Amino acid sequence: MRKKIRIGVIGCGAIAQRLHIPDFAHCPEAELSAFCDLKHDRADVMAAAFAPGAAVYTDWKKLVKDAQVDAVSVCLPNALHGPVSIGAAQAGKHVLVEKPMATSAAEAQKMIDAAKKAKVVLMVNQCQRLFPAHRKAKEVLDSGILGKVLHVSAMFGHSGPEAWSPTGKWFFKKKDARFGAMADLGVHKADLIRFLTGKEIVEVSAFVERLEKKNSDVDDNLASCIKFADGTIGMLGASWTAKGGGADYTYLHCANGTLRVKVESDRPLVAELVNPESTIVFDMPAARNDYAGSWGLDAGGGFVRAILGKEAPFCTGEEGKKSLEVILAAEKAAQTGRSVRLGKGKK
Ligand SMILES: NC(=O)c1ccc[n+]([C@@H]2O[C@H](COP(=O)([O-])OP(=O)(O)OC[C@H]3O[C@@H](n4cnc5c(N)ncnc54)[C@H](O)[C@@H]3O)[C@@H](O)[C@H]2O)c1
Repeated sequence: MRKKIRIGVIGCGAIAQRLHIPDFAHCPEAELSAFCDLKHDRADVMAAAFAPGAAVYTDWKKLVKDAQVDAVSVCLPNALHGPVSIGAAQAGKHVLVEKPMATSAAEAQKMIDAAKKAKVVLMVNQCQRLFPAHRKAKEVLDSGILGKVLHVSAMFGHSGPEAWSPTGKWFFKKKDARFGAMADLGVHKADLIRFLTGKEIVEVSAFVERLEKKNSDVDDNLASCIKFADGTIGMLGASWTAKGGGADYTYLHCANGTLRVKVESDRPLVAELVNPESTIVFDMPAARNDYAGSWGLDAGGGFVRAILGKEAPFCTGEEGKKSLEVILAAEKAAQTGRSVRLGKGKK
């Protein structure tokens, strides 16, 4: 196995610029060797800034055939995640794909099967798992100090993708995005609460609406109720109309107190215990430990170390699929007006 994994980045827009490319540039075991974007200039600018001399493509099919590439980051509009990840796996490349990993459970399964067949790593960038407050919250919950989780409330909202990616018109088109806020943001929290609690969601009811983004054919709001396999219940929300400070929080009410996780706050992690009565304000590193303009989550590094067998993938294809299935269940529940069962309880 090579000491350095040679990376091709497919799609050089907002998330590639703010997470994938700086992460790989920061990782000693990675080498950025190719960039691809339909907009040639965008790929060219990234190559010049981070890896002068790297190959530049406008056609992802050519990049995945490049023998100088071992692994790819798929940072494209949602509807392209499946076909490009499968094409890359079939060409023998390891794949880190953005969330939501696919447009359907069947497509997600095809991605998993293609990676297995090609014996390559498939990971999904469910990067909320990597925020320092979320990693610490997982540690606190696993310690058992709070006891059984009884009720979970998780919400992710902002005013929409317009400010994040001004040229990303695809976010509002169903044929390119498949979902609106419910998967753009909701899949992050669906994944996070599965990760934090270690429990599977087995039933979902929901409302999904388009309230303000009228020049769009996708949703902009999700409100759902969820039930876990052990009876724990909770609420999962996502919004592209949450203005001002938006929302990025997860509260876990447990047998022995409450754990409050708010990534963008000066007290990102607080545990309030009842027995003995105490409040623990965790001393957390900054939410975003910036390097080279990045979020500093080291997601790219995690992918590379998983390829090298140095650590377990932070989110496998199977895990990404389970989180996507929660959102698909919410969509079906909203459409039918009935709660939807998942996994073994599925009707
Ligand atoms: N993990 C996170 O926290 C997070 C945050 C934001 C976005 N995302 C996800 O990342 C993905 C990309 O989002 P973004 O915000 O970077 O969008 P974006 O519009 O800013 O970037 C997408 C890029 O893909 C390029 N592109 C489109 N079709 C292409 C094709 N066929 N071949 C090559 N290039 C093509 C576009 O020109 C553009 O530069 C989405 O799936 C989104 O959900 C994840």
